[in-house]
Amino acid sequence: MEKTVLLTGGAGFIGAHVAVELQQLGYRVILADNLSNSQADVVGRIGRITGVDPKLWDIDVADRTELEGVFAAEQIDAVVHLAGFKAVGESVQQPLSYYRNNLDSTLTLLEVMADYGVKRLIFSSSATVYGADNAVPYTEDMPAGRCTNPYGWTKCMIEQILKDYALATPDFSAICLRYFNPVGAHMSGLIGERPNGIPNNLMPYVTQTAAGIRQELSVFGNDYPTPDGTGMRDYIHVVDLAKGHVAALDYSFAHTGWEAINLGTGKASSVLELVQVFEQVNGVKVPYRIAPRRDGDLAVCYADASKAKKLLNWQTEKTLADMCRDSWNWQKNNADA
Ligand code: UD1
Repeated sequence: MEKTVLLTGGAGFIGAHVAVELQQLGYRVILADNLSNSQADVVGRIGRITGVDPKLWDIDVADRTELEGVFAAEQIDAVVHLAGFKAVGESVQQPLSYYRNNLDSTLTLLEVMADYGVKRLIFSSSATVYGADNAVPYTEDMPAGRCTNPYGWTKCMIEQILKDYALATPDFSAICLRYFNPVGAHMSGLIGERPNGIPNNLMPYVTQTAAGIRQELSVFGNDYPTPDGTGMRDYIHVVDLAKGHVAALDYSFAHTGWEAINLGTGKASSVLELVQVFEQVNGVKVPYRIAPRRDGDLAVCYADASKAKKLLNWQTEKTLADMCRDSWNWQKNNADA
């Protein structure tokens, strides 16, 4: 029997890619999204790639009545919980709205799942839970916490809630996927990241600079203890990341308890390396200047990716060149989006 998977935040950058991979494997996919940071046209775009338009429920996951409506109408077997606010800087300005939104939606979701006997949950967590005190590469058994911003704390707190809940609930499976730095876009150029306003993250800033929307990229610091002095991150192609969700979901059907699993490549690239590869594979210029360090940034962050390989039999396939090519393809196709 085909399984039905609810994706909260399913119209967003990562959710849309997860929807594509699931549908291509024959899962039935339901999206729940209040479209606060995404557009309804993603449904038709997913449909053009996979041949099937997923059903979209335009609801707020934190609204219990609305969410109950979804569970009452659909036979849901598992949930991938991607809904949430995710802007680091904004979370520092508006901590209450971040705690209210991200924690409330998760608690409501868990309560409604309990009412409907749904016991499989994949949570969209982040490498940010490793905080500032652990040494790289990060392994899942390292202590989480000491986050540098409220956004990061919401991820940490939700992981803890899920751990406690899984412990108290027989047959419940909670898998926290700790994403490193998701970039890239679907090869079709039909789905990708649509940042609101001026991008905070590196790759969308690079693509917008190459497109002439931004004048130049500020490289935040070139005096880090790294080979070229710029910060290093574990960039992961969003399609690889989406496939990691499918692997985790398959695993969850025979799993009970709580797990945290890194989704990364296990390799770090510097800001200048990324810019260079981007210019090379795409034949475009990315003007940049060296700027002061950004508050709260780490020198180096990358995953130990061996747990995902061992438990889920999943590993990344795409290169930094693939990420740069697909990000640029998306930017060009959606210049007016
Ligand atoms: C940040 C968050 C992380 C969140 C992720 C995705 C922190 C500590 N980390 O990761 O929790 O999950 O975003 O939203 O806040 N850079 C530049 N110029 C730019 C932008 C970035 O040089 O204009 C550099 C940064 O200094 C860093 C690298 O590029 O070395 C990646 O930055 P970014 O894409 O913002 O991701 P993180 O800071 O790693």
